[in-house]
Amino acid sequence: MDMTPDDFPTSAYIGGTWVTSKDQFAVINPATGLDIARVPNLTPADARRAIDAASAALPEWSAKTAKERAAVLRRWYELILAESEALAQLMTSEQGKPLAESRGEVAYGASFVEWFAEEGKRAYGRTIPTTAATKRYITIKQPIGVVAAITPWNFPIAMITRKVAPALAAGCTIIVKPAEDTPLCALALAKLAEKAGVPAGVFNVVTTQDARGVGEVLCADGRVRKLTFTGSTEVGKILYRQCADTVKKLTLELGGNAPLIIFDDADLDQAVAGAMASKYRNAGQTCVCANRIIVQAGIYDHFATALAVAAEKLVVGPGATAGVNLGPLINADAVAKVESLMADAVAKGGTVKTGGAKDAAGSLFYKPTVLTGVTTDMDIVSQEIFGPVAALIKFETDEEAIALANNTPFGLAAYLFSQNIHRAWKAAEKLEAGMVGVNEGIFSNEVVPFGGVKESGLGREGAAEGLEEYLETKFICLGGM
Ligand code: SIN
Repeated sequence: MDMTPDDFPTSAYIGGTWVTSKDQFAVINPATGLDIARVPNLTPADARRAIDAASAALPEWSAKTAKERAAVLRRWYELILAESEALAQLMTSEQGKPLAESRGEVAYGASFVEWFAEEGKRAYGRTIPTTAATKRYITIKQPIGVVAAITPWNFPIAMITRKVAPALAAGCTIIVKPAEDTPLCALALAKLAEKAGVPAGVFNVVTTQDARGVGEVLCADGRVRKLTFTGSTEVGKILYRQCADTVKKLTLELGGNAPLIIFDDADLDQAVAGAMASKYRNAGQTCVCANRIIVQAGIYDHFATALAVAAEKLVVGPGATAGVNLGPLINADAVAKVESLMADAVAKGGTVKTGGAKDAAGSLFYKPTVLTGVTTDMDIVSQEIFGPVAALIKFETDEEAIALANNTPFGLAAYLFSQNIHRAWKAAEKLEAGMVGVNEGIFSNEVVPFGGVKESGLGREGAAEGLEEYLETKFICLGGM
């Protein structure tokens, strides 16, 4: 209730102990470029110690009843809510997103803890009608064991709670390796979990810049029975291969290239609001941001103009400044990528309707941009932008829109806008994506399954499916009846 961002720890957390190290790395505020904290740069040997701790804590935690675990998780949820303002400020300072978005993310992150605390009580098995008079069949659900989680910088709280809460509710223990750009929120969550009574070793946080070395240990150790990762498809494929030798269960939330289709019978205001919400959330740095806005010829010019007017109203600046709704990109590489995609698109005939350059607010700020005349030979169509650029492609027929939308190895989110329910339904069925928003630009929450198809990943997070990812099904046959 009374914490400030400075009250949260800057030490790593292994086996219930706050761990320091001589070797440290700086956490930078992307809005100011200032060094806001230093955290331990832990080693692969430290990661092994974290696995030892998680393995040692597993028997006692998994033996608790779901109701007992739920009580601990509920306390954690309440503490996150109680400290939500301090957490939001911490998030804005290390990640850059506007304070209003950080507050939203704290609530979003907390919702996974609340949901899974309850859902853990419903890890039901089945009774199966027998095939032999002398036998009886049942299944029970059991925790998979020690879990490793590798989490991204774009949602420094929600992408941790979406993994840790179901793991703990299921009776697993976990080691989190947070992104090196945003370790502070992970440590803050661990502090609140400790206060809530999560026992030593059940939830460990290994801060490191050696993502490769620590990742290799987490993947190679046979005691870790599951890896859950949110990040790029490129890294996801490496982790997938590295987990093969110990045949771990995997949840992979990987890259997207979300199409957002606007049919000519869409409600223009609704389509603009949906595209704005999907495209510019977190300055375009989400895996579900609209990457390709595919607009029917009859509405294309009106939509492009209305979107540009709305984009120009966004206030760019440091996330901590009141009224700002577009913060900085995470680092210089992210800005360089946006600039290179824009240069390629413009060289191939794209037109900048608004934006199209860095913003005067600072070196990591990019103007909200609308790009028209986008064609499929441009890199911006095949690569994830991860920046505030809306790329508009024109189409004529419904078949062409679906073909354009599905012409990608990715399949995370897709969106469409139409007032014709039959047209919308048919399109939603044909889109190759794990999630489809119809007349809606934002749909993530704790009660629905989040995840992708094709090279966007494996498994689902959130909802009942999200708990299942941390459980094994054991079949028991009782004979001699
Ligand atoms: C992500 O970008 O990875 C997550 C977005 C969400 O949870 O809505």
